[in-house]
Amino acid sequence: MSPVTGTTACGSAPAGKGPEAADLSVDVGPLSLTNPLMTASGTAGLGLEMEPFYDLSAAGAIVVKTLTKRPRHGNPMPRLCETPSGLLNSIGLPNKGIHHFIDEVLPDLAGRAARLVVNIAGTTTREFGELAGMLDGLPGVDALELNISCPNVEGGDLPFGRDPDVVYRLVSDVREATALPVITKLSPNVSDIAAVAQAAKQADSDAVSLINTLLGMSVDWRTGRPGLGTVVGGLSGPAIKPIAMRMVWEVSRKVDIPVIAIGGVTTVDDVLEYMCAGASAVQVGTTHYKTPDIIPRLVAELGAQLAGAGRATAREVIGSMRTP
Ligand code: FUM
Repeated sequence: MSPVTGTTACGSAPAGKGPEAADLSVDVGPLSLTNPLMTASGTAGLGLEMEPFYDLSAAGAIVVKTLTKRPRHGNPMPRLCETPSGLLNSIGLPNKGIHHFIDEVLPDLAGRAARLVVNIAGTTTREFGELAGMLDGLPGVDALELNISCPNVEGGDLPFGRDPDVVYRLVSDVREATALPVITKLSPNVSDIAAVAQAAKQADSDAVSLINTLLGMSVDWRTGRPGLGTVVGGLSGPAIKPIAMRMVWEVSRKVDIPVIAIGGVTTVDDVLEYMCAGASAVQVGTTHYKTPDIIPRLVAELGAQLAGAGRATAREVIGSMRTP
């Protein structure tokens, strides 16, 4: 069994059909990608950490861990806790701040990724705009992802990610500050994710990415200790894929905006299922901790899978789901 396709040799592409047989390029609004595979913020560091495992240009895009205006230490330990089919985290956005990134990291990172997406989080809607303005026009930065959905900071995803009016204001503040393509990363911890996506679209977000983690917790009944230092954190990994799939489909159907799917991708079938449900691209997150070179593995098998299914392009799979 292939760890990447999840299929047996019988399900593989016919001999002679290499990855070059299918055109893997996709567009996410104004952002053109050589393939639909992106890293999910927080699972690939600031990008350079992945270089021992693969050439960053193999990914459609590298998305860096969230940057904030000021440095943050992050949350108390333990910050990670494994559960049977997912991972709980409460990291708390530790980072050295945006100035450190711009001065010390970006000069090395610029030009290494096919596309570099910088993920940012402000403490107010205005601060999101301020951060966007600092990154606007910097060489090597191709797009911004707005983290309005982290469940692990003071106030959680409540102040930004749940209220469509706040999302509209926040994206508008960012839009005024930058000409870069803007991707708004949505929280699943809402009753109507399409309404939040619609607000992001109305404020001229170029795309939405979904889902960030689902609120969860665990406890060891023998010791009475919770799995995470903050007790409640965010669940990611294969456990959340059906929930993310439902939300990707719902947003794609109801809102005219490109969708980037996130949630439990481990195989090429996961990638193509999300695209079939309407995603233009797919981010890979938790799997990085087990298979750090998962992205080039998936890219290498994607072409073969498409060719084996008689598809000439990845684009034609997007939104091809048949509704009963
Ligand atoms: O806790 C964290 O750093 C997680 C961030 C996120 O889920 O956006």
